[in-house]
Amino acid sequence: MKCHDKKSSRLIGIIAPFKPHVEKPVGKQTNLLKEFISAAQLFSLSAAIFSPESLVSISAENGKASGYTLAGSEWKKVRLPIPDVIYDRYYSDICGFDEVVENMKRALSRSIPFINPVQLTETVTDKLRFYEFMTEKSVLSPRIIADSIPGTEAEWKNVLNQKDGLIVKPRFGLMGRGVIRIHILPARIYQLHLAMKILRVNSTAELNGAIDYFVESMGLSRNDFIVQEEIRIPGNRYFDIRCLIQRNGTGLMEFTGMVVRCATRHAATPNIDQGGFAMDPEAWFQSALPGPNPSELIEHLRKSAETAYSAIETTTGNIGELGLDLLIDNNYNVYLLEANAKPGRFAFQRLSTGYGFEDGLKRRYAAIRARSIENPVLYGRFLANTERKDK
Ligand SMILES: Nc1ncnc2c1ncn2[C@@H]1O[C@H](COP(=O)(O)OP(=O)(O)O)[C@@H](O)[C@H]1O
Ligand SMILES: [Mg+2]
Repeated sequence: MKCHDKKSSRLIGIIAPFKPHVEKPVGKQTNLLKEFISAAQLFSLSAAIFSPESLVSISAENGKASGYTLAGSEWKKVRLPIPDVIYDRYYSDICGFDEVVENMKRALSRSIPFINPVQLTETVTDKLRFYEFMTEKSVLSPRIIADSIPGTEAEWKNVLNQKDGLIVKPRFGLMGRGVIRIHILPARIYQLHLAMKILRVNSTAELNGAIDYFVESMGLSRNDFIVQEEIRIPGNRYFDIRCLIQRNGTGLMEFTGMVVRCATRHAATPNIDQGGFAMDPEAWFQSALPGPNPSELIEHLRKSAETAYSAIETTTGNIGELGLDLLIDNNYNVYLLEANAKPGRFAFQRLSTGYGFEDGLKRRYAAIRARSIENPVLYGRFLANTERKDK
């Protein structure tokens, strides 16, 4: 495989499904990837979106692959040589592993450096596997109680005996969709919180029936879910803490930013896709966790996220970027809930444009967001210059 000509500018190949002729060819990532390509151009690099298939079959097509880039603000179809580095932004629309795509990525990673190692993406996507991995690394994570939804009354009883707060959620995350909270109330009443609804049942048979109905309505099966202990967080609204850690243009780790995502009043999860809103951690902790100094709490969370990032890297090798979702309990224990190898920037964007925020805060988050896009561009250039895998 011949790499992009050394004399010409470095090419970052973004892997993502691209649908031409629609307003948002890369779906929800369209703005982000447009900004990524523009940032690359600003730093005299090129960047284009390719399907994994087009890169894998590149040699058969005269050493060039079809992709899409920007000319000004318009999408343009181009034929380009093999990229110098790959930025993986491919979301599979199947619930679980897309073995075909993963195999293509593995094959590409033998000759082209990836901003995020392929192994990282595979490990963090599967919440069951990720939990085992984090336990090996001694990073605190909520305990897995069952690797699928119980099927019999006896299995339910066993699961319900272990904790009075449980989370049932898809093993492969769906941005907050499909998360069920089960609380055991006095007199063995089971309270289910799913999406915006709360229901109470008083037998495991009813509980089983309600969950069955919910799972089927999502087109999923019991084996697509895991059962986890619920971490009880302070305050009366659900929230999680999103930290973005990246490597920058010198290859060093950088803590890019932290945002609190807070659920709307009746929602079971704080995901932005489920109506959750973004909050500045300082302001949020002042009201939701009065007592400790917010900046000490932020420092504590930042350190926990960095420790988890470095622990993961001991197995996967250097990571280009990772979105870490944290929870904090009443005793200030920090739990790593999940890690996202293809982190979005919606939460930062919300704070940079949100109605009612003061200008200083908006500017701070606009700068964080810009930095969050610049970092993988510059780290990509760093990798292209230091890790050429010529064949
Ligand atoms: N074990 C848990 N304890 C407490 N809350 C949880 C737990 N697991 C998930 N949640 C809640 O559900 C949300 C979504 O779960 P997460 O594992 O991040 O999946 P997704 O991939 O759908 O974002 C979290 O932000 C958190 O609010
Ligand atoms: Mg999440």
